[in-house]
Amino acid sequence: MCGIVGYTGGKSAISLVVAGLRRLEYRGYDSAGVALTDGQGAPLLVEKRAGKLANLEAALTSTFSQSTSGIGHTRWATHGGPTDSNAHPHLSGDGKLAVIHNGIIENYIELKEELLKKGHKFYSETDTESVAHLLSDAVADSGGDLATAMRNVCKKLKGSFTLLAVHSDNPEIIVGARRNSPLVVGVGDGENFLASDVSAFISSTKRALELGQDEVVVVTPNSILVVDLEGNVLTPKEYEITWDAAAAERGGFAHFMLKEIFEQPKAISDTLLGRIDETGVVRLPELDLLNLDVERILILACGTAYHAGLIGKYAIETWSQIACDVELASEFRYRRPVLSPKTLVITISQSGETMDTLMALRYAKSLGAKALSICNTHGSTIPRESDAVIYTHGGPEIAVASTKALLTQIIALHLFALHLSVKKLSPSDLEKIGNELLALPSKVEQVLETIEALREMTRGFKDATSVLFLGRHVGFPSALEGALKLKELAYMHAEGFAGGELKHGPIALIEEGTPVIAIMPPVGSEIREKMASNIQEVKARGARIILVADTSIDIASADHVIRVPETHELLQPIISIVPLQVFAYEMALLRGNDVDQPRNLAKSVTVE
Ligand code: M6R
Repeated sequence: MCGIVGYTGGKSAISLVVAGLRRLEYRGYDSAGVALTDGQGAPLLVEKRAGKLANLEAALTSTFSQSTSGIGHTRWATHGGPTDSNAHPHLSGDGKLAVIHNGIIENYIELKEELLKKGHKFYSETDTESVAHLLSDAVADSGGDLATAMRNVCKKLKGSFTLLAVHSDNPEIIVGARRNSPLVVGVGDGENFLASDVSAFISSTKRALELGQDEVVVVTPNSILVVDLEGNVLTPKEYEITWDAAAAERGGFAHFMLKEIFEQPKAISDTLLGRIDETGVVRLPELDLLNLDVERILILACGTAYHAGLIGKYAIETWSQIACDVELASEFRYRRPVLSPKTLVITISQSGETMDTLMALRYAKSLGAKALSICNTHGSTIPRESDAVIYTHGGPEIAVASTKALLTQIIALHLFALHLSVKKLSPSDLEKIGNELLALPSKVEQVLETIEALREMTRGFKDATSVLFLGRHVGFPSALEGALKLKELAYMHAEGFAGGELKHGPIALIEEGTPVIAIMPPVGSEIREKMASNIQEVKARGARIILVADTSIDIASADHVIRVPETHELLQPIISIVPLQVFAYEMALLRGNDVDQPRNLAKSVTVE
């Protein structure tokens, strides 16, 4: 939901700002813009364009390359369509101040009415433009001090925001502020950066500072000052970014999504590393911070992360015998939920910034729950506000469609479930599960070796109008995930169903030739025969069956079989979801869609 970059230092700002925006384009890509300062008192250099970053780059002239300080924005539209005039930055009436924004200013209508009465003119339909005018008035009131102006304006704003502002009278200074939206500082040598996430400046520095809620930061090439809204000086926590710039590049792959699909074996290994051994004994010292006297677990998450929760629930309940519910974070707080003091809330989020999940976490905490987060992004808001965090070690996930983040989230849930269950499972069960977990990276590699066959198979379904996914037990949330991937990438109608639910309505959707992707439980599973019957039911009504099945199963009725390695039933989604990801990826390519930046979406959803 909008990417934000600021640079101040000795180098050409435009190249660093645009390079940062390219890395952040996954956050939103319907328009982009920059504002650069150009020496004491000289007017700001501003350019903004609807469409992808390439449109902005094409519009930049050589005059932009002189400046050494500036801000840039890539937008995911909320208020006002994706036009040149709605693109950020937005300017004050005198053109001396520019502001960029990620989030939503909820009280912008009343602010705008007041500003109109004062004589300010508006040129966009955005909520952000009000902030530009408010800041310019506040700068005048504070004798030209942009930082004080920012503090005072933030006090008037309701909603969520990361804001960056520059003023032509102080060309080396960038002032930022955040509430409920992300902002990190990149600490350089004679240069400093501000950005929505560290990937924007990873090529220049690995040192980053976390900013907290309602904090204002003032950066110059040689200084960083963080204050609260009252002006009290704060000491932000510095951390080192553990991955390198290459991790945020495509590295020879056609798309980030494909690269990330192929990174899954390593992402799983890295997430398991040092946390489990062959005897199944789990080491998660992170959990020492929690008093795990838990009677009930409630998992809150959105989208693919929600599916991870649905999958993890099976292992948690089966192994630990502790009740576990999973709920969409966006629905949670609006139904007045009841939480006992012995409820542990687990939020799952790749970005750690998803607003629905963050708000659900805050609500759960306000009801007295203890909170654990499973997160892939160091220092992001959700883990910061949780009592404990299990970080997944997936590395940066750039493609909008989540792949390696999902598999590592499921792994983290399995580790957590084993940690809870150490006294409930026999040593031989623990050992069996431990060994199966450790074998997953190579099993996922085996699935990826079949990519050519998957590609070929997908071609046969290019003209389908609808694809149904069928599963039971852990295969059901896997089916939901397969359908979500196909919707978001191929823009096709796709739905996931529990096999047993078919006869309660969805079977009416089946007609001659309808593709049904069915996930077969392994031999020995108590629902294997029932799933086989469900497959027969759709086959009898003309469905074309694609079966995801392990090598133990002898299959006659399928039109296509995707063979995957055998594993423990509760771990099966780690393996069976991979071909579904590839299917959606290939289908999107066949349909000419932008795989990494699907329409209407953004990677990090920082609005409710
Ligand atoms: O960053 P999060 O894990 O909190 O994101 C949650 C969802 O927005 C995300 O998983 C989304 O559903 C993916 N684009 C799906 O591929």
